[in-house]
Amino acid sequence: MTQQWTPESWRTRPVVQMPTYPDLDRLGAVETQLRGFPPLVFAGEARKLKRKLARVAEGKGFLLQGGDCAESFEEHSADNIRDFFRVFLQMAIVLTFGASSPVVKVGRIAGQFAKPRSSDTETIDGVTLPSYRGDIINSNEFTAEARTPNPERQLEAYRQSAATLNLLRAFAQGGYANLEHVHNWTLGYLRDSPASARYQALADRLTETLDFMRAIGINADTAPQLRQTDFFTSHEALLLGYEQALTRIDSTSGDWYATSGHMLWIGDRTRQPEGAHVEFLRGLQNPIGVKCGPSLTPDELLRLIDILNPANEPGRLTLICRFGADKVEKHLPGLIRAVARAGRSVVWSCDPMHGNTIKASTGFKTRPFDQIMSEVRRFMAVHQAEGTHAGGIHVEMTGKNVTECTGGAHLLTEADLSDRYHTFCDPRLNADQALEMAFLIAEELKKEGPRFIDDEEAMDAAE
Ligand code: PEP
Ligand code: CO
Repeated sequence: MTQQWTPESWRTRPVVQMPTYPDLDRLGAVETQLRGFPPLVFAGEARKLKRKLARVAEGKGFLLQGGDCAESFEEHSADNIRDFFRVFLQMAIVLTFGASSPVVKVGRIAGQFAKPRSSDTETIDGVTLPSYRGDIINSNEFTAEARTPNPERQLEAYRQSAATLNLLRAFAQGGYANLEHVHNWTLGYLRDSPASARYQALADRLTETLDFMRAIGINADTAPQLRQTDFFTSHEALLLGYEQALTRIDSTSGDWYATSGHMLWIGDRTRQPEGAHVEFLRGLQNPIGVKCGPSLTPDELLRLIDILNPANEPGRLTLICRFGADKVEKHLPGLIRAVARAGRSVVWSCDPMHGNTIKASTGFKTRPFDQIMSEVRRFMAVHQAEGTHAGGIHVEMTGKNVTECTGGAHLLTEADLSDRYHTFCDPRLNADQALEMAFLIAEELKKEGPRFIDDEEAMDAAE
């Protein structure tokens, strides 16, 4: 019944959201070159992430996934990577403490370059050009030359991904992720935050916990968990030629793995069950995500699960729900019940960004912080009511002090958006808003009570 999968079987399927390259010879040459390049990640790492996600699916952990909407060539710098990683680690620790459970850390980084668009073209002052589809495809500048899809950009995206990942690996394992430092940064943030009173109690409990551990001899010198962490990468698997070129057979298992990132996801616009993107991802062994928007029916979701995870392997599939705050109650319960009835193992994650984008009166695309938090709370409440595990969040964020989303403790207004609106695509939470969100979610998770941490997790952390 099902056709044989190969890394290129997607090429016979209907495909949407992919660029039309004018020079196919040049594209072929670039893909050949990429096929010869070293993998960015290893199959064993992807398997480790899958094991961690399997525990989240069982209710024994929480997934934190976040980063830029679109990485850009222009903003590629050590400072940006460091600032993102710093706030991401702070969020992770606040959430770990709040949930009393392991937090699986997955960045939208080191490969998040290709973007789906609502229209193939953009018209400005009567001039129509191809839409900007992310730096791996074309450039944002509004000229015919810049907007023409250029295969050479894939080589630059690969280079940037490798350099970014290299620095992140050094940060994660080389001492930058030391828990005591991370906590001290958070105390610094609280000193400057108008909302500090609300979050101080949680931070104080964490300070006391660290003091207690130090007193009994558990510190960064004696416990590797306190000085290093596991960090994984992810991006939307949109540009399938690039993904195919970096798909390799793992010599240990003999299975196919994408090596462009640990986890890949399918966007809300490219999840057609018979389409090219679903076909490509079904044959890989990496953990994968599927964005679930308001148009997804329970039957269609079950069909996707059958195709993407026929063996019902825990940790394989993360459903990233993005309905919009006021649509969660309408869509989520039906999907949860269908999955539960079918006995399918999934991680339920909440993307509170993509269903809450509005146009500000000043013309900027923005997202109100309260709406974002409202979607997260409603997502968690529905899971509580259904008796299922709200397993994670998926956010667009940056470590910089940008002004792209309104609200938060600093009360950013629509009039502030023009100050530092730097995104290449969707509006991101800035560092303060991202950390504030982690505190607010930690408060919610605390209400659910501690989760059981099993020995296997402790062993994993010590690896
Ligand atoms: C995204 O994550 O940037 C995105 C385009 O999301 P979605 O596919 O959910 O619209
Ligand atoms: Co986005």
